Amino acid sequence: MNVSKDWLKTSWQAGRDMLRTSAGQPHRPGSSSAMVPIRSLGASHRERVVEHLLKLEESDRYLRFGYAASDEQVRRYAMQLDFERDDIFGIYNRRLELIAMAHLAFTELPAYKNCAEFGVSVLKKARGRGYGGRLFDRAVIHARTKGVSMMFIHALSENTAMLRIARNAGASIKRDGSESEAYLQLPPAGIDTHMSSMMTDHIGEVDYLLKKQAKQFWDFLSDVQEIRRGVQEGRHQSGE
Ligand SMILES: CC(C)(COP(=O)(O)OP(=O)(O)OC[C@H]1O[C@@H](n2cnc3c(N)ncnc32)[C@H](O)[C@@H]1OP(=O)(O)O)[C@@H](O)C(=O)NCCC(=O)NCCS
Repeated sequence: MNVSKDWLKTSWQAGRDMLRTSAGQPHRPGSSSAMVPIRSLGASHRERVVEHLLKLEESDRYLRFGYAASDEQVRRYAMQLDFERDDIFGIYNRRLELIAMAHLAFTELPAYKNCAEFGVSVLKKARGRGYGGRLFDRAVIHARTKGVSMMFIHALSENTAMLRIARNAGASIKRDGSESEAYLQLPPAGIDTHMSSMMTDHIGEVDYLLKKQAKQFWDFLSDVQEIRRGVQEGRHQSGE
């Protein structure tokens, strides 16, 4: 087989793998394996991250951070995010509102180079559509490409949705009263994992740029309409 055939076969396989859950289950419409553009977030998205987190209600902040974080604490968390070291990614809607985001945190401590911690939040209005699950799948792929073999999730025991996402992916869950620690052992990345990761990033990037252009055009049209309305009103008044 020549190089381009090998490459095509690998991309084809990577595409197929993207339509499967991390547990290897086939695609189910409406489930967490549905195709959703996920965008990698950089420092220029920090304000959007702040806006997203501030929209979480008190009870959700409690589930997300393990305590009822105040606005100030939420802002401090967002300001301290290290977009270079960690993997921070999310899902935008058409209005470029960040409706879901996840944080895969790595440590610089050499002893824990193979570990990462996953945290996620989805706005109430966007829940139950599989976004949480998709962000988790994306984190698993990215973590594997970074050589991570254990992904940790800290969730309160009452957090059925989060524990379900982790359990569906095959995580071991240890309950200690109101807290649950879950961890998922990850196999080493193969070339298909790298391809999936690259394709997911590319799709997320293109989707965001299209949404951005569409939003800019709508804003432009509404400005034009406003100007027209102003001109018409002006004419009307001068005709009176
Ligand atoms: C946890 C959270 C991210 C889930 O987001 P989501 O997009 O609604 O999740 P999904 O739609 O992918 O659903 C994931 C699984 O949980 C199940 N689920 C969703 N909401 C549920 C609920 N309220 N009760 C029970 N199960 C629920 C889904 O059926 C799905 O399981 P399935 O694939 O076996 O059917 C979201 O509820 C959230 O942001 N909570 C606040 C912050 C938080 O708890 N973060 C996690 C700790 S870091």
